[in-house]
Amino acid sequence: MNYRHLLVFIAVICLCACQAPEGERSVQESSSAQSLKSAFADDFFLGVAVSANHINGNKPREMELVAREFNAITAENSMKSMNIHPERDSFFFDEADRLMVFAEENDMHFVGHALVWHSQQSPWLEKITDSAEMAIALTEHINALVTRYIGKVDAWDVVNEALNEDGSYRESNFYKVMGRDYLLHAFREAQKADPEVDLIYNDYNLWKPEKRAGVVRLVKWLQDEGIDVDAVGMQGHWSLIGPDLSDVEASINAYAELGVDVLVSELDVTALPNPWDLEGAEISQNFEGSEYMDPYRSGLPDSVQLLLAERYEDIFRLFLKHRDKLTRVSFWGVCDGHSWLNGWPIEGRTNYPLLFDRSLKNKKAYDAVMALSNLEAEE
Ligand code: G3I
Repeated sequence: MNYRHLLVFIAVICLCACQAPEGERSVQESSSAQSLKSAFADDFFLGVAVSANHINGNKPREMELVAREFNAITAENSMKSMNIHPERDSFFFDEADRLMVFAEENDMHFVGHALVWHSQQSPWLEKITDSAEMAIALTEHINALVTRYIGKVDAWDVVNEALNEDGSYRESNFYKVMGRDYLLHAFREAQKADPEVDLIYNDYNLWKPEKRAGVVRLVKWLQDEGIDVDAVGMQGHWSLIGPDLSDVEASINAYAELGVDVLVSELDVTALPNPWDLEGAEISQNFEGSEYMDPYRSGLPDSVQLLLAERYEDIFRLFLKHRDKLTRVSFWGVCDGHSWLNGWPIEGRTNYPLLFDRSLKNKKAYDAVMALSNLEAEE
């Protein structure tokens, strides 16, 4: 660069700085950051969930992308009790171990998912009906996993999805056998096994006011009992039209007021119609193969691509506004082809919920999110 070019460059930088409205972030045309993780390095961890296929070496290009773009990682299924602790006396640590090596090699924050969850549960655990025996089983399970990964797992989803939509306790087998004390027991055992590791309560629809109140009650109770809860994980399985981001914001504020970090632990934005949104739709109705419910089999129209980009931009604006409270934003899947939303709530659809398309190209939504990263922090 010669002297004149340098002067022009400095002038452009100054002009941009002067034009940025005070106290606001405004979108630039393009980002100078090279990756999501560098773009938001001063804000929060940028994470991703990977499948067994990724861990087992069947998706090398996707793993390259993961290493390039993200600095936090979660095993999508490999550490759930059914997979990692299939029999009372036998464990299958291979996938988690392998992922741990990848995380270490790439200097990533590791999230253990999930110690206690009613779904994808080991059959032996599900069969327990005695309260004392359940407590012992949970201790064994939690202790085995947490101690094995001391210094490697940075944060554990200790209990996943323990609440109903109205904020009451879900009648899981754990709850039926031990009452709400299973939560306290799980957090206590995890804390005992690794006093340094971050302890997370993770759940979906945490933007809902009733469920928000339930989480606040739960965390306060755990804190009163001496548990150092580190974070609430709001999963973030959202859509183009909902939830209203003012509800998400109210929840971020409410959880932060408890003195804990807030995470967005499983972010994706479905672009497809939801059977629950259809007036009069019978949920049990079989929508498999329905073109109406799977409208973008041959590609996402530009108009919807744009809507997705706008939605992600709005979402990340909110995240940046609350970056003092949010410590991690993790996507639930690497690229559109990998997302669980291709198979739920209707099997075999073609969905587009993430920032990378099926050929791993950045989508407009990626550009929209990256563009925000150039901007001055909101005061
Ligand atoms: O591995 C088997 C395979 O051997 C078999 O052939 C195939 C047949 O269906 O199933 C495969 O297992 C599936 C597994 O994903 C791995 O792909 C299960 O059926 C399927 O139920 C399972 O779904 C996972 C789901 O949790 C289980 O509840 C999704 O991948 C995973 O993305 C999803 O993740 C959850 C979070 O853990 C908690 N929050 C909600 C989130 C979305 O549901």
